[in-house]
Amino acid sequence: MPVQMVTNDDLARVVDTSDEWIAERTGIRQRRIAVEESASHMASEAARRALENAGVEPEALDLILVGTTSADHCFPSAACEVQGELGAIHAVAFDISAACSGFLFAMNNLQAFIRAGIYRTGLVIGVDCLSKLIDWKDRSTCVLFGDGAGAVVLQASDKGIQHSVMRSDGSKWQVLSCVSRTNGNLLNGRMPEPGYLYMNGQEVFKFAVKKVPECINQVLEESGTDIEEIKYFILHQANYRIIESVAKRLKQPMDKFPMNMEYYGNTSAATIPVLLDEMNREGKLNSEDKIVLSGFGAGLTWGATLLEW
Ligand code: UT7
Repeated sequence: MPVQMVTNDDLARVVDTSDEWIAERTGIRQRRIAVEESASHMASEAARRALENAGVEPEALDLILVGTTSADHCFPSAACEVQGELGAIHAVAFDISAACSGFLFAMNNLQAFIRAGIYRTGLVIGVDCLSKLIDWKDRSTCVLFGDGAGAVVLQASDKGIQHSVMRSDGSKWQVLSCVSRTNGNLLNGRMPEPGYLYMNGQEVFKFAVKKVPECINQVLEESGTDIEEIKYFILHQANYRIIESVAKRLKQPMDKFPMNMEYYGNTSAATIPVLLDEMNREGKLNSEDKIVLSGFGAGLTWGATLLEW
């Protein structure tokens, strides 16, 4: 996580907002903003901690996948930068672009490679540095996001990922988007300029509260799992009201839905691995616990994964 913390009151000095509005509508009170840190630096840091925790050497990695939409460079990928940083000389590395669903989609991709017998050990990172894509004059978006990274190591095993569902609906891409660069070239005489993140918040909200419970139910049904067996639902940390609404639709108690957006805001692809890592380090996850991860975001993209810890 970046060092620099920005509170709601700090933002209220820049745009017409308040701690009360942000906290009541979203559950966010502060976020970290990268000043010195780059996306690949945050990703490499998260990766080092995950490898250390798993007792795996970088040289043992076969594959590095990074879920991100805000890598430092258009190319090379963040994954290649991380591979170089770690000295993971045997790993092939590339990014997966699925916005806030990026970590989940990357993890499911790695699982597919492992299940197919192609690779044995891989690293999945969710990292985003949306602060550089934000229009800092737009109060409807600038209060929501933070920068950060989280990572997990996956190895061939009977445990771990049991089943997953991934979905996309490209007909609604305009709801949440960011132009990488405006058209500018020799022929129109304009220089390409960076674009900013745009979001129709209410549309994203409606989409999330409908699609997240649907895909969680699908993953449970297809894997023959009773919802009461699930210890935790680790959801993308965008807004506590979305999570409350999902819990209500699933008829599950709120204590099964851990949250940390209060401290980090919406860190996009990083929310799920960061929360998973926090819970693991706090000793809240025990062997054989069944956990559902679920993410949603631009694309539109969404999905759910059932894990056995
Ligand atoms: O990772 C996935 C990405 N995004 C999400 O998951 C976001 C999903 N959507 C949301 O979380 C919510 O829609 C928001 C938190 C973005 C907005 O909450 P809302 O309850 O849908 O508010 P709203 O957009 O309906 O705006 C209500 C009012 C408006 O004023 P008027 O028209 O009622 O006078 C906005 O102009 O709140 C105003 N407003 C603000 N006021 C103070 C919008 N942003 C702010 C702000 N501070 N930061």
